[in-house]
Amino acid sequence: MKSISLLLILLITFQFAVTAQTGKAIYKDKNAPIESRIKDLVSKMNPDEKILQLNQYTAGMNTNVNNIGEQTKSIPAGIGSLIYFSADPDFRNTIQKKAMEESRLGIPILFGYDVIHGFRTVYPISLAQACSWDPALVTEAAAVAAKEANLSGVDWTFSPMIDVARDGRWGRVAEGYGEDPYTNAVFGVATVKGYQGKNLSDPYSIAACLKHFVGYGESEGGRDYHFSDISMQSLWETYLPPYEACVKAGAATLMSSFNDISGVPGSANPYTLTEVLKTRWKHDGFVVSDWDAINQLIAQGVAADRKEAGYKAFMAGVEMDMTDNIYMQNLKQLISEKKIPMAKIDDAVSRILRVKFRLGLFDQPYTTVVDESSRYLQAESKTIAQKLAAESMVLLKNNSKTLPLSSSIQQIALIGPMAADKEDLLGAWSAHGNEKDVESISEGLIKEFGNTAKINAAKGCDFDGNDESGFAEAISIAQKSDVILVCLGEKRGWSGENASRSTIALPAIQEKLVLELLKAKKPIVLILSNGRPLELVRLEPLADAIIEIWQPGIAGGSALAGILSGRINPSGKLSITFPLTTGQIPIYYNMRQSARPNSGKYQDIPTEPLYWLGHGLSYTTFTYSNMKLSATKIKKTDKLTVEVEVSNTGNVTGAETVLWYISDPACAISRPMKELKYFEKKELAAGAKTTFRFEIDPARDLSYTTANGKRFLEAGDYYVMVNNQKVKFEISE
Ligand code: NOJ
Repeated sequence: MKSISLLLILLITFQFAVTAQTGKAIYKDKNAPIESRIKDLVSKMNPDEKILQLNQYTAGMNTNVNNIGEQTKSIPAGIGSLIYFSADPDFRNTIQKKAMEESRLGIPILFGYDVIHGFRTVYPISLAQACSWDPALVTEAAAVAAKEANLSGVDWTFSPMIDVARDGRWGRVAEGYGEDPYTNAVFGVATVKGYQGKNLSDPYSIAACLKHFVGYGESEGGRDYHFSDISMQSLWETYLPPYEACVKAGAATLMSSFNDISGVPGSANPYTLTEVLKTRWKHDGFVVSDWDAINQLIAQGVAADRKEAGYKAFMAGVEMDMTDNIYMQNLKQLISEKKIPMAKIDDAVSRILRVKFRLGLFDQPYTTVVDESSRYLQAESKTIAQKLAAESMVLLKNNSKTLPLSSSIQQIALIGPMAADKEDLLGAWSAHGNEKDVESISEGLIKEFGNTAKINAAKGCDFDGNDESGFAEAISIAQKSDVILVCLGEKRGWSGENASRSTIALPAIQEKLVLELLKAKKPIVLILSNGRPLELVRLEPLADAIIEIWQPGIAGGSALAGILSGRINPSGKLSITFPLTTGQIPIYYNMRQSARPNSGKYQDIPTEPLYWLGHGLSYTTFTYSNMKLSATKIKKTDKLTVEVEVSNTGNVTGAETVLWYISDPACAISRPMKELKYFEKKELAAGAKTTFRFEIDPARDLSYTTANGKRFLEAGDYYVMVNNQKVKFEISE
C-alpha cells in the first residue's frame, strides 16, 4: 500500500514538472493521472468557484409534478451540475459551451436526469425487470438506455433505485427490484454495469446514482416522505447490502434519502454518508441530495433554518445540493465562520470533479449530434425491450390449461380499460418515452391472432369511478366469444413518487366488471398491468388464468400476445409477495419466525399471502430431484457445493429459475426464516434434465451481520432449500 502511495506521489510530482515545462495546466492534460488533474484544478479554484461546483440547478422544463421548482432563469457558467429535462443535444452543447468558455477555468457541467427504465425505448419498470431473474438482459437494457440518454446530452442518471420495498402501498415499489436485499443487489449491479459500461469514459457510458441512500423503502405505512423507523440491525441486514454491492461494482454516485434512520434523516446522517460509505466502503465519488432533501431537514425537525440544514447535510457527507440553493446561499458564510473547514470543501469538490474526469468530460465536454432516427428505438433496442417484457411477465394462475389459447378459438373478447391503453403501459418515470412508440395489448393481439381469430373489443369501464354504462356491451361481446381477456390495472400516475395508496386493491368498478362478465359463462383470463403487488382476493377466484404484465414499456403488447398464443413460454417469477389483503402488509418471504409459529395469526383471514416472492407458472412443468451436497459437515473456511437436478417434464421448451435459499434456525440473533442467496435461470427443452449448482461460501452466504455491520459466522446447523427440497448441513470451527 505504502509503495503504491509513494509511486502516486512521484507520478504527480513528475507530472507537475512536465506540465510546468510545456505551459499547459495539468488539469487540462488528458494524459495526466486523474488525481493529479483534480489536485491541480482544486488548487486553482477560488471559494466561489468551489461552492458553485457543489450545486445543481435545473435546465429546461421538469416533468416530475412533485419537483416543480423555480425555473432557473440564468445558469451560472461555473455551476457543478444541471438536471437536464431536454433531449436536445444542441441545447446541452450551448449550455456546455458557456461553461467551457465563460467560466474562468473551463469546468464542464455534469448533466443529470432520471433515466429509470429506458430513455426513449422504454423497458418494463424495475420491479418487473427483477421478475425476469435475468440480470444479463437487464444490463443490456440499461446499456441501451445509457446510449440513448447520452446521445441526447445526459451524463448521469439518477438510477438504479435499490431501496428494498415491502409495502405495496408505497408508490415507489415500482422503481426498485422488490422485497429482497440480494435481488436488489444483483439487479442494481446489473444496471450499474449497463449504464457505466467497462469504463465511465467509454462512448455512451453514463454515471449511475444509487438511490435513495438509505432506507427510503421503509416509509411508515407506505406513506411517501414519511418517517421511517429503521433499527441499526435492519439497516445493515436489509437496506445496506444492495448499496454495498453496487458501490463495490463501481457506482459513481449516490443520492441521499428523505427518510430517517434511527431518528437521523438520510440527508444529514454522518454515520451512513461518511462512516459507512466513505470510510468503510471507501467510495470516492460523491453524494447528491434528493430534491428538497436538505431543505426538508427543517420539517424533519433536525435543523432550525436553511443555514443549519445546509451545515448538517454538508458535514454529514452530502457533496451536492440538488436544486435547494442552500449551499449556494450559505456555504460561504459557514466557511468564514470557520464552521466548515476548507479541507472539507476541497474534498467535496474533488469528489465531484473526479466523476467529471472519469466521464471524460474535460476532454470531450460536448455531445456528438446525431439524428433522432439513429439515436432512438433501434432494432436491437426494441428486441431487448420485447425480450425483457416477455421475461418479466408472470403467469400467476392457469387452471385447466386455459393458456396458451387453443388454436380452435375463433372469437376473443378483449375487454377492460387497459386493452387499448398505451400511455399507462409506459409506467411511471418513463423519461422521454412516447406513447406513440407503445404497442397496446389490442395491437399486439391483432398482430398475433388477426388471421386466426376475430377480436371483439369493448372497454367495459374506466380505471375508476362508477360508470357502469359500458357493462352491457362488454357482456354481449363476451357472450359471443370463446374466451374473455379482461385487461385491468393501474394508471401509471398511481405509482412512483408521492403516489401512495391506502389499499392495493383495484378500484371497485374494475372488480365489478369481472363479476358481471361471469354471466357470459366463458373462460376468463385476467391481464393485469400495475406498478405494485395487488390485492386479488376477490378477483382471483373469478379468473381461470391470470397474467401479471406489470408496466411493460413499449413492447408489452406483442410480448403478452406471444404468451397468450404460446409462441412465448412465460418464465417470470415474482420479485415481491402479493398479500392476500392489504391488511396483511407487511408480509414478505424473509420475515422472522414468530415466537409462537402456530399462533397469533389474524383470526379473520388465512395466514398465507396469495403469492409469495418466487411464484410464477410455465406452460411446462419442472421437477426437482436428487438434491446433493458435496459434504454434510464442513469447516468455516471450506466451501460446499450443492446440486439439484431439474427436469422439464412437460411438452414444450421452457426456462426455469432456480432460487437457492439458506436458513439458520439457531443463531446469536434471530434470523429471517429463509434468505435468498443465489439464483440461476436456464432454458430446458421438453424432456431435458440439467443440474443446477450453488457453491456455498460460508463467510459470504451463511454469516450474519450485527447492528454495527460486523459479520459473524457461527458453527452449527444450517439448511439449504430449493423449491420443495431442503437439506441440512453442519459448519464446524
Ligand atoms: C425526487 C426523487 O425522489 C428522486 O428519485 C429523483 O431522482 C429526483 N427527484 C430528481 O428528479
